[in-house]
Amino acid sequence: MEKKKQTSYGDAGFSRFIKMAFQRHLGHEEEDFDKPVIGICNTFSEVNRCHSHIKPMIEVMKQGVLMAGGIPLEFPTTSIGEMFTSPTTMLYRNLVAMDTEEMIAAQPIDGVILIGGCDKMLPAQLMGAASANKPAIAFTGGPMANGEYKGKTLGACSDCRHFWQEYKAGTVSEEEIQEINSRLAPTAGHCMVMGSASTIAACAEALGMMVPGAAAAPATENERLRLARETGKTIVTAVKRGLRPSDIMTEKAFSNAIRTLLAVGGSTNAVIHLLAIAKRLGIGLTLDRFETLSRETPFLANLRPAGDYQMEDFYRAGGVPALLKELQPLLYDEEMTITGQTWKQILERIKVDEVYRPIIKSLDEPLHKEGGIAVLKGNLAPNGAIIKPKAVRDSRLLSHRGKAVVFSSIEEMEKRVNDPELEVDENSVLILQNAGPVGAPGMPEAGMIPIPEKLLKQGVRDMVRISDCRMSGTAFGTVVLHAAPEAAVGGPIGLVRNGDWIELNVEKRQLILDVAEEELEARRKQWRPPVYDDYRRGYTKLYREHVLQADEGCDFDFLLPPNEKA
Ligand code: FES
Repeated sequence: MEKKKQTSYGDAGFSRFIKMAFQRHLGHEEEDFDKPVIGICNTFSEVNRCHSHIKPMIEVMKQGVLMAGGIPLEFPTTSIGEMFTSPTTMLYRNLVAMDTEEMIAAQPIDGVILIGGCDKMLPAQLMGAASANKPAIAFTGGPMANGEYKGKTLGACSDCRHFWQEYKAGTVSEEEIQEINSRLAPTAGHCMVMGSASTIAACAEALGMMVPGAAAAPATENERLRLARETGKTIVTAVKRGLRPSDIMTEKAFSNAIRTLLAVGGSTNAVIHLLAIAKRLGIGLTLDRFETLSRETPFLANLRPAGDYQMEDFYRAGGVPALLKELQPLLYDEEMTITGQTWKQILERIKVDEVYRPIIKSLDEPLHKEGGIAVLKGNLAPNGAIIKPKAVRDSRLLSHRGKAVVFSSIEEMEKRVNDPELEVDENSVLILQNAGPVGAPGMPEAGMIPIPEKLLKQGVRDMVRISDCRMSGTAFGTVVLHAAPEAAVGGPIGLVRNGDWIELNVEKRQLILDVAEEELEARRKQWRPPVYDDYRRGYTKLYREHVLQADEGCDFDFLLPPNEKA
């Protein structure tokens, strides 16, 4: 897959001569040109706050590269953060993937360190690195340390949502919400619950693309700097061994990563990302594989938003290696990692201390028998939809029949959801249409539709909500996401009307629109594709024309390998 190098134009001697002349500005000598050159993909940004602290880590990484006999060279790539990217970072994940792939491929580097952190960065980088297929290792800026308020742990951003909901319900005062705001994100780093950033980091580690322990060490711990240095050393040895992403991210490695996702009760977003990364490598991963593994992978990590602890606690309990030690009987532990060791070799030196059992449960006594994500099917989502059953606040809703209250777009939902005249009660099923990959565009994290204020004031804290968009990995509730195909391409979620009966049965994995087929056919005939008056040029136009559906990973069709069917 690696692109052909065409920089010498028939005169390799002159090519080396001119490159050497231009590289002397960094103090390089002739002998340096024979050492492995390690690109360090610098994603520093003050707008992407989850990457604002990575410069000292890069300095330490460089030491590691030099100590192992390589030459480190930093280069910038696009950096996007959840808080300040509009309309949604997911719109730009594929742009980062393209940028990363092309820069790895185009530059004279032998290997690359990818520095991720905020939600979409690491998935994008792994997609790009998979396609470029030069030796690559992943690292992140690490999660924030725990927050604290009145003796209780605060977590970004599960508590952002939780306390805001309580503020809207009138149970948290103006003064209290301000105080909470100042404590929610107390250090540098990415969100410190098992949200999307922490989940994809855990999956990357389980895939074998990080040094062991790198997913969970907090941003501000000394250990993160030590891991940065180890990462620098490791990529040099990986280059010398010729270990490429396609050697590490195998079909079996993806099974290990999916089991990790399920055992930590991780973010639903990771499903889309893992599908996309696998497809870049020509691995035919499907939602069915997630469902099969979900039924047979126990939920072991007691981490928010589905549990009680956060990444700092997970780190002290041993992080991903400790979790994998428990999961080992279910893993393909002969899979190679970027360290040059298999998981079996790595796990030989890992032990889970009993004192940390509240955080990482044993395989014999799991938190739950099944994994943290379930794949639903039915006539409302023929190609699948996703739910996190353990993030449900009212477990009675796991089997529920209710009448639809339909919002035809995010804008319409924002206008109407708190309208006192809205005909809705606690048994209603809130439906959000046209918020998928094409419809929104970019499939924003709007799936945790707010509970209407009038119901919040009556004490309602959870309802069944169904959409073709995503939700933040830090969000919670009876929220069905990623309904595919989406409304904007003619999917059945776009055919739902107010008052239709909807049935959700998580145990049976069913999502049913209880409307006669003849009626649905009549609605299908009336359906017309939306006409967009926004984003009619540039990158977003390209995105709308080429993005794949959620069950296919939302990559661009033209970025798949030639033999992979879009
Ligand atoms: Fe970056 Fe949450 S805002 S990970």
